[in-house]
Amino acid sequence: MRTALLNLIGALYAGGLRPLIFRATAQDAHERMMGALRRADRAVWLYAALRAIRRAVAPPWPVEVGGVRLDSPLILAAGLVKGDGFASEEAALAAARGGQNIMPGWRAIPAIAGLVEFGSFTRWPRMGNPGVVMWRDEATGSTQNRVGLKNPGAAAAAEFLAARGHSLPPRFGINIAVSPGVDDPDRQVLEVLESLAAFVVRGVTPAWFTLNLSCPNTEDDPGGNQTADLAGQVCGAAVDYLRTVAEDSGAPPVPLWVKVGPDLSADQYRALMRTFARVGVRAVVATNTLGMPSPDDPSLTAGVGGGRLHEAAVQTAALLLEEQRAAGGGVDVLGCGGVADGATCADFFALGAPAVQYWTALVYRGPLAAALIAGEARALTKEM
Ligand SMILES: Cc1cc2nc3c(=O)[nH]c(=O)nc-3n(C[C@H](O)[C@H](O)[C@H](O)COP(=O)(O)O)c2cc1C
Repeated sequence: MRTALLNLIGALYAGGLRPLIFRATAQDAHERMMGALRRADRAVWLYAALRAIRRAVAPPWPVEVGGVRLDSPLILAAGLVKGDGFASEEAALAAARGGQNIMPGWRAIPAIAGLVEFGSFTRWPRMGNPGVVMWRDEATGSTQNRVGLKNPGAAAAAEFLAARGHSLPPRFGINIAVSPGVDDPDRQVLEVLESLAAFVVRGVTPAWFTLNLSCPNTEDDPGGNQTADLAGQVCGAAVDYLRTVAEDSGAPPVPLWVKVGPDLSADQYRALMRTFARVGVRAVVATNTLGMPSPDDPSLTAGVGGGRLHEAAVQTAALLLEEQRAAGGGVDVLGCGGVADGATCADFFALGAPAVQYWTALVYRGPLAAALIAGEARALTKEM
């Protein structure tokens, strides 16, 4: 009965709503979606109904990953619920304090999708890249974007979420991105610590923090922050900070996860994995999008997600898990990249990833993507 209802909703999306949405460009569809989310966040009856629908069709599937117990192995990846761009922290804080919804979807998306990683948030607000920044490639079930870390900045994001503390979901993650364009390692460490502290001091406690070391769509060289040395410094300082906060409060430390890109060398992944284990990182999300020439201007880079990323993401996860086993455990690996159905999800589970993240599946499978994919993956696991 539950499965039949879920499949019916999935089929209605694929056969009815998706073709309608796909009549618009990816950019226009995304902008309309943000408008719809702003309205849904306000409509009590609507998000209550969305939550009820999810609970009716998505049975709990508890997993332990990266130091957290979650009631599903599918997490909506960072990049959807991240907020508006602002030119200054002052403007972002003023908007948050003025009651503006600066983070569309903060309430409606967790209601319908379940587990969500908010962000990425950077230390300072960012306007993101101008012009068209989103594309889709239906033939391969892919997306491409060069949003460029548009976000209100950690302080305003934290202030906004803190003011809504009682309405936040019971479990969620927060993704902090290293500051693009900052070359000085000490400054990078400081900005990451200040970003974490923005949430901690305001009492916004996620189940995990993810540190995004990899963004192909900014002015940065995305590989630059993923050297073992710099990653060790930034992650080590972040883990120490979260431990100190925990000692002061008496609560267990919020685990730190890290997100890496799909295009590093095998040696670099191995070195990173050893570094993560040494400094106390609890999990790695593999991977972020793959930087490729943008469809409108090949001189610009735009990150590919979905079908065209899947193979590279699976290979990356396999390498990281190989290193994890050689080291005798320690750091979990979450798959992320082209999780579109039970089979693509099972590709990561079969390697030993206890959980996965997804983004593009939301576009192709609809808002109940996690429930649909979990149902399919569970059925496949039982068959094996
Ligand atoms: C429009 C868009 C924006 C994104 N923004 C972020 C971001 O701010 N931080 C981040 O860590 N990942 C970001 N991502 C990457 C996703 O979290 C995910 O790693 C990637 O899309 C691969 O998953 P998928 O194949 O399921 O899409 C973004 C992806 C998309 C499509």
